[in-house]
Amino acid sequence: MKKVDFLVIGSGIAGLSFALKAAKHGTVCIVTKSNEDESNTKYAQGGIAVVVDKADSFQKHIQDTLIAGDGLCDKDIVEIVVKEGPERISEIIDYGTNFDKTRSGTYDLAKEGGHSEHRVLHYKDITGFEIERALLEQIHKHPNIEILTHYFAVDLITQHHLGIVVDKKSTDITCYGIYALNTNTNKVEKILSRITLMASGGAGHIYSSTTNPVIATGDGIAMVYRAKGKVRNMEFIQFHPTALYNPGEYPSFLISEAVRGAGGVLKNRKGEEFMQLYDERKSLAPRDIVARAIDAEMKKSGEDFVYLDIRHVAKDELLRHFPNIYAKCLSIGIDMSKDMIPVVPAAHYMCGGILVDEFGKSSIRRLYACGECSSTGLHGANRLASNSLLEALVFAERSYQSAISYFESVNFQLDIPEWNDTNTVKSNEDILVIHNIREMQRLMSDYVGIVRSDFRLERAKRRLELLFNETESFYKNTKLSMKLCELRNLIQVSFLVIKGAIDRKESRGLHYTTDYPEKDLNNLHNTTF
Ligand code: FAD
Ligand code: SIN
Repeated sequence: MKKVDFLVIGSGIAGLSFALKAAKHGTVCIVTKSNEDESNTKYAQGGIAVVVDKADSFQKHIQDTLIAGDGLCDKDIVEIVVKEGPERISEIIDYGTNFDKTRSGTYDLAKEGGHSEHRVLHYKDITGFEIERALLEQIHKHPNIEILTHYFAVDLITQHHLGIVVDKKSTDITCYGIYALNTNTNKVEKILSRITLMASGGAGHIYSSTTNPVIATGDGIAMVYRAKGKVRNMEFIQFHPTALYNPGEYPSFLISEAVRGAGGVLKNRKGEEFMQLYDERKSLAPRDIVARAIDAEMKKSGEDFVYLDIRHVAKDELLRHFPNIYAKCLSIGIDMSKDMIPVVPAAHYMCGGILVDEFGKSSIRRLYACGECSSTGLHGANRLASNSLLEALVFAERSYQSAISYFESVNFQLDIPEWNDTNTVKSNEDILVIHNIREMQRLMSDYVGIVRSDFRLERAKRRLELLFNETESFYKNTKLSMKLCELRNLIQVSFLVIKGAIDRKESRGLHYTTDYPEKDLNNLHNTTF
């Protein structure tokens, strides 16, 4: 059994930046299910939106965020994130993060969909990789921080594990730590904490086509929901309009929105522009609009992709800004200075998640949530491009400030039982888990995608119920494996997405349903379960 002041689940931008701060006050243990740098953060391309330019203002960034969020953002939270952003950026620059500069020495700010100004700080087209590198370098230097790689957080430990019945309405559910599967030894270990931070990222893998790396299986959201914590607005799944169309590649490679910011234009198979038919901002409209437009064009033409054309930009410029994207395209025979890039929307970001307050506190005591797994109110019904990394930094700081104010007064709960897996057997049919994951991803892509309807959602729910029942019975009788736990979490998160989508009788932001194509102006609400 391990005991630690601060337990952090996840080693992306949210978990690492919280850990670095908390380590000034106590012991920190980060558990992460893969290699230490594997995370959505590592693949972030475009950059971080922040007001640093004189031509820009907090008000403009706030306004752009509110417009993208389509009426559902929490205005106070938007203001907090935008205004606290510059200080948090200075911190990661101090940690050693590099951002590109212009020849005159000012930051080279990019523009992305929905932004009224150039305000996206970036490092070439591998911003996330650079941030992850700098944060990990600091983490390695810190004597108070231990990273347990290849440890999979299975469940939060609460009163439930002491035999006390916990009900959803209860206000005193408390997190005492986690059970984690050491995937090297296949043993489940108990880690007790005074404070736990959930920073487990998103859930792109509920769909068969996603830009997210394979770690993004919604584990933290499912764990919190199982522990009877609250989650919110799960129906708002952001599909990135431009993943590279490369059949057989999984997950999909992203073609950054910054390519459109640099002048890239969407065209149909005949080489004709089409975005003017859908929005006056054309290819740089917010993502929900662009993804739906591409979906409509593909349905009209029967094609599997549209094109992104950036051939008018000089090759040396492309190589300077987008070396990674250029190399990837070239590796499959596309020279983006001469050829149009085939692109298709893919699941990209979870706008909803674990409900938290303005200090990252979840509805479960001693549990904070931060980054993509959380729902702070910043994104509303649709996230503005490059606001996610910023949100993670701002909420890591706020969670840290709140947690250090009382962690020393918290006692460890020592009477927690060991993980009990008597009466379970080792599975000799792991392949069935993989089949079920694929089946679930297929049904989510087929019925709960960019355009939804009641008929499709009900159909998805019925099919998912079958997979749920099969998986639960398998789980009860089988020794744990990471894949089985992930399947269970993916199904749980998919249910929440469908439930939210069925409850939302309107079209708003990323949720579009043919049964209720308009916004319900009389019923502005969040879906909370
Ligand atoms: P992550 O970075 O995903 O980290 C989650 C961590 O939790 C991982 O280490 C994972 O292994 C671990 N974990 C998960 N489950 C468990 C478990 N059960 N047990 C133990 N560990 C677990 N946003 C922007 O703002 N700007 C961009 O330019 C941008 N580009 C993007 C490009 C791509 C291709 C993708 C996929 C996303 C992009 N995003 C971008 C979104 C952004 O990268 C993410 O939202 C953000 O990095 C999330 O950070 P996080 O710390 O919350 O989660
Ligand atoms: C991108 O580079 O297009 C991704 C930006 C984001 O998801 O915020």
